[in-house]
Amino acid sequence: MTSDWRNLSYDILAESGEDVEEMKKNEFPPIPDPGLLSGVSLSLKTNLLKSLFFYRSFNNRRLTHTAGIGAIGIATVVSDPKFPPNDFFTPERVFPVRLRHANLTLSDDRVLDVRSASLKFANVEEGGPLDLIMNTGRACPFWNGPTVKDFMASKAGKKELKEWLHKNSSYYYWAIDGSRRAPSSYSKLSYYSQVTMEMIDNECTSHHVRFRLIPADYCGHDDGRPDERDQRNYAEEWDVVRAENDTRAPNYLHAEFKGLFANGGAVHYALQLQRRYVAPGDSLEVYNMGRAWDPDRHPWLDVARVTLFRALHPDVTERLQFNVANLPSCVVLPEAPSFEDYRSIGHLRRALYAVVQKARLWKFNSCAPPSTGVSYRFTVDTVDTKQGGYDGDVHVIFFGSEGETGALKLHKSRMFGDDFGKGEKSSFELKAEDVGELWAVQLTLANKADGWFIGMMTVEKGGVSVQFPCFHWVYEQAIIRLGKATLAFNDSPEQQAIRALEKQARREMTPWQEWCSMPSHIRATLHADLARDYQFGDEKTADFYMRRDEGRFNYFYKLITEGVAKVFKEIQGYHHYNTFFHFNVGQNKVPSVAERWQSDREFGRQFLQGHHPTSIRRVVGKLPYNFPLSDESVRMVLGRNVTLKDEIDAGRVYIVDCKSLVGIPTATGRHVTPAMGLFYVNASNDFVPLAIQLDQQPGLHNPIWTPADTFNDWLLAKMHLRCADAQIHQINSHLLMTHLVIEPFGVSMFRNLPRVHPVFKLLCPHLRYTMAINTIGRAKLVGDQGLADQVLSIGRGGHIVYIKRCYSNFDFRRLSLPYDLAERNVSDASLLPTYYYRDDGLLIWNAVHRFVADLIAIYYASDDDVRNDDEIQEWIGEVHTIGFPQNDDDVDHHVPSRFDAIDDLVDALTAIVFTSSAEHAAQNFGQYDYYAYYPNAPMTMRQPPPSTRGATTTKSIIESLGGTDQVSFQLLTVWLLSTKSRDEVYLGQFPEAHFVDPEARVVIAKFQEDLKEIEACIDERNRHLEVPYTYLKPSEIPKSIAV
Ligand SMILES: [Fe+2]
Repeated sequence: MTSDWRNLSYDILAESGEDVEEMKKNEFPPIPDPGLLSGVSLSLKTNLLKSLFFYRSFNNRRLTHTAGIGAIGIATVVSDPKFPPNDFFTPERVFPVRLRHANLTLSDDRVLDVRSASLKFANVEEGGPLDLIMNTGRACPFWNGPTVKDFMASKAGKKELKEWLHKNSSYYYWAIDGSRRAPSSYSKLSYYSQVTMEMIDNECTSHHVRFRLIPADYCGHDDGRPDERDQRNYAEEWDVVRAENDTRAPNYLHAEFKGLFANGGAVHYALQLQRRYVAPGDSLEVYNMGRAWDPDRHPWLDVARVTLFRALHPDVTERLQFNVANLPSCVVLPEAPSFEDYRSIGHLRRALYAVVQKARLWKFNSCAPPSTGVSYRFTVDTVDTKQGGYDGDVHVIFFGSEGETGALKLHKSRMFGDDFGKGEKSSFELKAEDVGELWAVQLTLANKADGWFIGMMTVEKGGVSVQFPCFHWVYEQAIIRLGKATLAFNDSPEQQAIRALEKQARREMTPWQEWCSMPSHIRATLHADLARDYQFGDEKTADFYMRRDEGRFNYFYKLITEGVAKVFKEIQGYHHYNTFFHFNVGQNKVPSVAERWQSDREFGRQFLQGHHPTSIRRVVGKLPYNFPLSDESVRMVLGRNVTLKDEIDAGRVYIVDCKSLVGIPTATGRHVTPAMGLFYVNASNDFVPLAIQLDQQPGLHNPIWTPADTFNDWLLAKMHLRCADAQIHQINSHLLMTHLVIEPFGVSMFRNLPRVHPVFKLLCPHLRYTMAINTIGRAKLVGDQGLADQVLSIGRGGHIVYIKRCYSNFDFRRLSLPYDLAERNVSDASLLPTYYYRDDGLLIWNAVHRFVADLIAIYYASDDDVRNDDEIQEWIGEVHTIGFPQNDDDVDHHVPSRFDAIDDLVDALTAIVFTSSAEHAAQNFGQYDYYAYYPNAPMTMRQPPPSTRGATTTKSIIESLGGTDQVSFQLLTVWLLSTKSRDEVYLGQFPEAHFVDPEARVVIAKFQEDLKEIEACIDERNRHLEVPYTYLKPSEIPKSIAV
């Protein structure tokens, strides 16, 4: 039909002798002001109509729009809406949708009839946040109560119909405007909501709106417009027959619509709205559905793109229920004050839909049994965690290659306890349509607020069993994909839409929070603010709060300090430090380091094999200019015939340089100095200290201390170096370089990768608890009055200044162990033979790298696949731009902004997995062993560093160290931070089977074998060591940063 189509109704009326101009004048008589009894009258008349509709509905499955065809898809709100911002249609928001097309009156598609499109903004059979019920026709031949009554009367017969058409020129006009004879497709028509609603924008301003749905490529003209004959004979022949030459099947529109989805095809519509401001005293005319709004004055604005992927099974379509009352809070169907008011049309539609659906439910129980069916055995595991169970009705829908089943209720009802108890496996035999090869399961929970922590789900059909790993909390509704990992470009449009919906939901629960000049993190003040999926699990939470609860912390703190006070008033000798362990909440035993802490051999060994293994670097060429150490000063250690230069050239001299602490403020009464320590690999391969300079500027009052000094001078110098190193360890190496830099990868992963993505499956167990521990850490560790304030010399503000300084120098490449070792010139095992952090770390690094590479190779065939994986690019893109802000004075952080090759992706993933597991273990779990005995590694010094030789005594050393409160705090803090939880998952363990692909299972098994070999190798080495190095034993490495 072309644009020259005309609505001839006025001409036809005129030809039949009607005074059309007079009719037009009277077509909308003034609406009487509502009187006292208007409300009562409205109610009575509505009830009358309701009875009539109920009676008719009871005798028909549907009163109107009887034969429908449904489809499933998504609606995506346009990215740049021209309509007022509101909290429902937000830019880029994606909704699952169901749509149903039907004819208004007749089941024969070939006759003249009004056609409809009902759009539900949810993938459910009834309910949902918004239903739009639309018909062909820019306006409607009834617009208030009396005109509805006229319309109903017209249904009695041809005579009544003709009388109706001649009663009001707009009746005829809009009847013609909305009718379509034998259109080529439902997808070629435009559909109008035919009711004026109010939309409240984010500024609380109201707008009148009307919606329409049009083909995405709409040319402005509908298919199937009635020709002159149809228009003239509207009252005579419209309901009689199809056109004689139309030999198509009566339901050809259904077949045609279904055919649009063949071979992965999709149907595209655009949802639009017209809007008018609501102003006080607005004429009621704005609600008059007997008039279309002028599109030149009120242009149609794009709301959303609607893409349909697949026709619904006829049984499922049959059960769909739409209701104009399903509206979001920002869209209102205004109340009507009287039966004559234009707003009564909305009032009546709301009332009548409810009654019609009730009649259907009574008569037909809504559900038609499946016309064909197979048996599905559905099994669901409820995770054994506190409140993991669920009590209430559940409906499942199976998605398959041939469509989807209807909603199947899981019948299970217990008198006591949850229907799905924690730790239980529940099985159901379900009969439903055969939907082919299964690829997803949708769960809908009736008790929307109650979460359900679901583990693995299994569906068996025809002897074939497939797995759907969930392993997350389900609220209200969730679609769980088949366990096989896929990349987006290998998915169908429908599967891609489900990915989009999942990411959208997770973006809402994973908002970014920028943190001035530090890596960004999840927005949450308290652990309880986090989404349930990100909170610690049951055991971990219990452990965490048992150990970290402030009250208990304070209780143990009191216990220790008061207990100690009973033994001695002030610490007077080193043996007193042992007393603290008698009141220890943990092991009640003094760490073995207390036996040997004063020896140089132990002091050096700890820098190599202790709790902070990344502070040393080899001296290359010469010493720093500000460390003027003479050969004479170190003669005692090096021996008479060797010069420092010889030893540097031989690669045996190493340095710990704390220059990054220069200018960092300390808490009142506490001291730290940017010390430098020089170490040496001696002939026995021991790593021993050569000299210590306590400040960066050499000078008379900054002597270089060596083992040749008095025992106490040298011991105090070593303590100051250790104290400086402790600040760097806690804030930089531990907090920043593991906890804080890993979190952005997790936040972005949860926002950008769906669970079916192989990288999500790989990273999730490594990143899942980091947001939880960091949220707690930001409040309780580095926040005001936090543990850092209590235990560190640079606490109470300096520590924040220091994190920022460290972040300004952060280089992502340092998360790669080989790169970091090379940077520090400590890769060569022949020069530095007992550096077990390096040796064990490289074994782990290589195993992780192999594992990641093999896994990625299953899913990415080429570099092009990486480049074309939009999800992985969005993931790393967001990490780059939001996760790691690049401030003006920062070095280049080298965080990738995209991946162009498989190798780049594998390297980055290896660094993330390694840092969140092995690196954190190496930096975290040695804390108790070395910090618990305070003099070995004080985190606070109460006196400035010594400046003259020979003045230090044991008493002055003890006065320099922390008092009983600081000793207690340090002991408790490192005990808390070094303890593993009972439900810890270790590297190589996969209790949550995210990967179910056989190829991936093979790669996992190989990784586990590799780790077993590494474990054996470390154990064998350790058998010969005085102090075994155990922090990088795979069985001791938690998978994620959780403490
Ligand atoms: Fe930690």
